[in-house]
Amino acid sequence: MARRHGGISMRTAKQDEFYRSKSFDRQVRRHLKAGVQRFAVVVPPAFAPLCRAELTDLGLAPAAEANGIIEFDGKWEDAYRANLWLRTASRVLWRRPDFRSGAVEDLFEQSAKQRWELWLDPRIPIRLAVHLAESRIGHEGQAAEALVAGISKRMAQFRLPRPRDCSPPVAAAVAAVDPVAVGDAAAAAAADYGADAGPEPNQLIIARIQRNRCQLSIDTSGFHLHRRGYRLVHTGAPMRETLAAAVLLKAGWNGSTPLVDAMSGSGTVAIEAARLARNIAPGLDRRFLFESWPCAFADTFRHVKTKAAEAALNRSPVPIVAVERDPGAIATARENARKARVDPDIRWHTGDFFDFTPVDRDLTPGLIVVDPPYGKRLASEGKTFYQRLGVVLRERFRGWRAAVFTPERLWLSQLGCRPLRTWSVPHGGLAIEVALFRIG
Ligand SMILES: C[S@@+](CC[C@H](N)C(=O)[O-])C[C@H]1O[C@@H](n2cnc3c(N)ncnc32)[C@H](O)[C@@H]1O
Repeated sequence: MARRHGGISMRTAKQDEFYRSKSFDRQVRRHLKAGVQRFAVVVPPAFAPLCRAELTDLGLAPAAEANGIIEFDGKWEDAYRANLWLRTASRVLWRRPDFRSGAVEDLFEQSAKQRWELWLDPRIPIRLAVHLAESRIGHEGQAAEALVAGISKRMAQFRLPRPRDCSPPVAAAVAAVDPVAVGDAAAAAAADYGADAGPEPNQLIIARIQRNRCQLSIDTSGFHLHRRGYRLVHTGAPMRETLAAAVLLKAGWNGSTPLVDAMSGSGTVAIEAARLARNIAPGLDRRFLFESWPCAFADTFRHVKTKAAEAALNRSPVPIVAVERDPGAIATARENARKARVDPDIRWHTGDFFDFTPVDRDLTPGLIVVDPPYGKRLASEGKTFYQRLGVVLRERFRGWRAAVFTPERLWLSQLGCRPLRTWSVPHGGLAIEVALFRIG
C-alpha cells in the first residue's frame, strides 16, 4: 500500500525496485535517451511569432506555427530548456509517432504497445483529451476508454497500477473547445479545460484522431507555463505572466531602456520586465511535470537549471517603475516581487498615474505599459479616461514607446496619437486590444 507524502503518495518499495532496475535503465536508454524527439509548443496564435523567435534564440529550429502549435525536433535537454525559458508559451508537448486507428480495437492495441511504464508516474492522475475528425471512430468517450484500457494493460505487465483517470467529462471538454479551432488547437483547448484546478497537475494526454490515424501528445509541463511559481496572491484582474512577457517582447523591449508599469495592480508587467531585464529564466522557480516522470533525466535538468541560474544578472541594468494608486495592490505586488526575487529591481510608486512625470524621477525615454481597469465604471467613463491618458502621454512621455490595453478599440482614437499597430490578445477569456505607439 502506498504511503502518502504531501499531496502525492510515495512510491512503494516494489515500484522503487522496478525504477532502479537495470532493465528499466536499459529501456530508457534504448527508447528515450538517444535520438531526436519531436516536441510541440502550445501557444496562443497571437504570441506565435514571438514564441518562434524565443525558440530560435534557444538555438532550436521551430517549424511554422499551425493552429496554435509550433513543433521542433530536439533532445530531452531541449524540451527542458523550452519549458524553463519560454516566456510566451502555454505548454510543451511530447509527440509520439502516429498510428492507424480505424477502430477502437486499434486504439486499445496500439495504446497497450506504448511504453507508458517509462514515463507515466502511477501516482499522478491522467487526463485524456480526445479530438476526433474525419474518422470512423465516432465517439470521444469510446476512444478515451480504449486508450485508458491500453494503458492499464501495459502498466499491469510491469506490476504497476494504472494512474487514476481524471479525464473531464467528454461533453464539458468538447464544450470548452473553441468551435472555430481545428486540429491541435481544439485538442489543446480541450486539454487545458480545468487543467489548473487542483493543487497538483494531472498528466495530460492528448489524442488527436484524424482520418483514422491517431497521434498521442504527452504534456511535459504540468501547470500552464504562465504559472511561474512566484504569484501567491493577486488583485482583481491579474494579467497572465505570458501575456505581460508577450507585450514587452512585442514592443521590442529587451531590458536596455527604462520601463514604467503605469497601473500596475498585482505587478505582473513590472515583475516580468525585471525578470526579463535580469535574464532570469521564467520557469526557474517552479516545478515541471517531466520532473516526476520515472524516466526523468534529473542530471540533465539540473545542468540546464544551473546554467540558467548562472546566466541571470544580479540587478536590472535599467530602472523599472510600478505606479499604482491602491496601497493594498502595491503591497500585494511587492509580495509577489519578493517571491520572484526582483523586489529591489522595481521602484514602487503609490499614487495617481495622472500626477506622474517621468523626468521628475530621472527617467529617460523607454517603454510605458498601461493596463487600465475594465468593467462597468470604465464603460461609462472610458472616453474621458483615454482622453486624459492621451494628454499625459503626449505631454510627459515624448520620445517614449507605449503599449496601451483597451477592451474597446474605439477608445484608442481618444488618445490623440496614431498607434503603430494594434494587436488582439487573449485576456481572461476575451480578446482585448493592445495598441503600440511611439510618442512623438
Ligand atoms: C486591470 S488592473 C491592472 C492589472 C495588472 N496588470 C496586473 O497584472 O495585476 C488596473 C489597475 O489600475 C489601477 N488604477 C486605476 N486608475 C489608476 C490611476 N489613475 N493611477 C494609478 N493606478 C490606477 C487600479 O487600482 C488597478 O489596480
